[in-house]
Amino acid sequence: MASSAPKLIAGNWKMNGVKADLAEVETLVQALGNLAPDCIVAVCPPATLLQQVSAKSGKGTIKTGGQDCHVAEKGAFTGDIGAAMLRDAGASYVIVGHSERRTLHAETDGMVKAKARAALDARLTPIICVGETQRERENGVAVTVVEQQLNGSTPALKAGETMVIAYEPVWAIGTGLVPSLEDIAEMHGAIRDWLGRHVGEAGAQVSILYGGSMKPDNARAILAIDDVDGGLIGGASLKVEEFLSIIRAA
Ligand code: 13P
Repeated sequence: MASSAPKLIAGNWKMNGVKADLAEVETLVQALGNLAPDCIVAVCPPATLLQQVSAKSGKGTIKTGGQDCHVAEKGAFTGDIGAAMLRDAGASYVIVGHSERRTLHAETDGMVKAKARAALDARLTPIICVGETQRERENGVAVTVVEQQLNGSTPALKAGETMVIAYEPVWAIGTGLVPSLEDIAEMHGAIRDWLGRHVGEAGAQVSILYGGSMKPDNARAILAIDDVDGGLIGGASLKVEEFLSIIRAA
């Protein structure tokens, strides 16, 4: 299936960032004003900074996103944040099902799917993360595992809705390890095929991001692969020069 998915480079700050780091966002917005990249750039700061980063987004030069949301719209869920609240703070996206949430907070495919549905209902685009462990890769079941995660974690899209899929091999996150370009190409091709089979026409609009130790020195080669529509960047999104250099590669 031919894809017409938009290119997206998104930074996931994880649990990093305080007010003093907002100057980095200003630098980023200014640099992007000159660069005028032909990809969407998004920053997903911790929830405490979402409103402030959104306010600095330079009339949409960058988009912002949350890093997680609750399945419910509101209610007695101490410590949780609903998708509509993220939207209210200026977000366009929300990451759901990141491997750190799946592992450290025992999130299941079903929960991820419900969160993605809650995001769509709040008019956010969910960035749904999938990816195999090292053992699954070694056992040759990486594609099967990711297809199962897609089966379980993606909501049915209604007219006008879209989502983003982020392929993040668990073993590549924060380790400096990356799959071979052939393995990334195989997985992104398999995800694109899955979208064709299960989402139909709207699937062509779904961007498939690669995430896991994407850095300035490997970004160009990874982003040149067919069906890699962008990146979800952790560590390298915390340093504005590195993040910019990945955006330039896109
Ligand atoms: P790193 O880029 O630090 O490996 O993190 C990737 C990631 O988890 C993005 O969501």
